Amino acid sequence: MLTIENVEVTYHHVVQALRGLSLEVPDGRIVTLLGTNGAGKTTTLKAASNLLGLENGAVGEGRILYRGRDIRGVAPDRLVQEGLFHVREGRRIFAEMTVEDNLVAASYALDRRDARADYDRVWDFFPVLKERRRQVAGYLSGGEQQMLAFGRAMIARPRLILMDEPSLGLAPKVVEEIFATIRRLNAEDGVTLLVVEQNAGLAFSVADYGYIMEHGQIVMEGPTETLRDDPDIRSFYLGVAEAGGGAGKDTGETRQSFRDVKHYKRRKRWLS
Ligand SMILES: Nc1ncnc2c1ncn2[C@@H]1O[C@H](COP(=O)(O)OP(=O)(O)OP(=O)(O)O)[C@@H](O)[C@H]1O
Ligand SMILES: [Mg+2]
Repeated sequence: MLTIENVEVTYHHVVQALRGLSLEVPDGRIVTLLGTNGAGKTTTLKAASNLLGLENGAVGEGRILYRGRDIRGVAPDRLVQEGLFHVREGRRIFAEMTVEDNLVAASYALDRRDARADYDRVWDFFPVLKERRRQVAGYLSGGEQQMLAFGRAMIARPRLILMDEPSLGLAPKVVEEIFATIRRLNAEDGVTLLVVEQNAGLAFSVADYGYIMEHGQIVMEGPTETLRDDPDIRSFYLGVAEAGGGAGKDTGETRQSFRDVKHYKRRKRWLS
């Protein structure tokens, strides 16, 4: 569905954000991309949806293929029409418009005249949005706004959704709902997803495969079952310290202190 090959990205001709990044998102799968702040996760998504131009960023070397076709030079709105939808960080919705009009605006932008069935599908996924459909979107809770951002993506009948930190700043219960939606959209509609997350435990609960990036490159990848058991991932991303003396997997696990994590960071075992 999406292939990123050795991509280099620079902002303002000087700031190099991606350094030969490669990743693959197979059709029908959920793939997660993890990494520390500033690693280049958002840049990767923007490169794939051709939004870098808005920020004076550009892809230099490398290729990005969406459904086998090089997307270089294809306008972002064209990509949306072709089924590639980027749900950006920070819930971009029209705050002064009603919930319903946010969906209507999404369908107009796609030139989709009869979108009633699409709205019904959004209401079915998110009943709370249906209840609030005549309310101004700016007054929705953070979680509801994230649902609405998701709903706007659904209107586009996407094949591939790029999601940037859907859990950011949301309460655990709401996050669970958003992730249940990700699973459902994948299972029922066969939508492929590339999900950027800070919460690795959550990401691993939905994804088939994961990539870890640092400084604009992929430093580790694998099926999520493998990543979940990796000691480095466990200590750094899952915040779990291994129990001493080879004790059972789930006994004696404690939250790791920030100091330990920093120590871990210096070691950077996966780079050596
Ligand atoms: N518009 C921009 N102009 C200049 N530099 C930028 C711009 N956007 C991002 N960068 C730089 O590119 C690098 C990667 O940023 P990016 O936003 O992709 O990271 P991220 O992994 O999404 O981080 P976070 O977890 O904080 O969201 C950072 O060093 C950042 O400062
Ligand atoms: Mg980001």
